[in-house]
Amino acid sequence: METPEIADTTPAIIELEEGKTYFWCACGRSKKQPFCDGSHKGTGFQPLSFSAEKSKKYFLCQCKHSSKKPFCDGNHKHLL
Ligand code: FES
Repeated sequence: METPEIADTTPAIIELEEGKTYFWCACGRSKKQPFCDGSHKGTGFQPLSFSAEKSKKYFLCQCKHSSKKPFCDGNHKHLL
């Protein structure tokens, strides 16, 4: 299993829209974090598609090591 790149060690706090589909970057290479920009090409990673349950701010994982992907679970603290 490939290890993703750590895009950042803090989550991105982003307002998401209820019902809308988003593509979360799983590889860590995207320049449009925390979302996929296609940079995973050639890696074994695929973006994770998900939709927001409510319109509100979410903490999205950027260290790519969360066990609750695409959401932050605080795991970035262990990577510092
Ligand atoms: S750019 Fe990272 S999953 Fe697409």
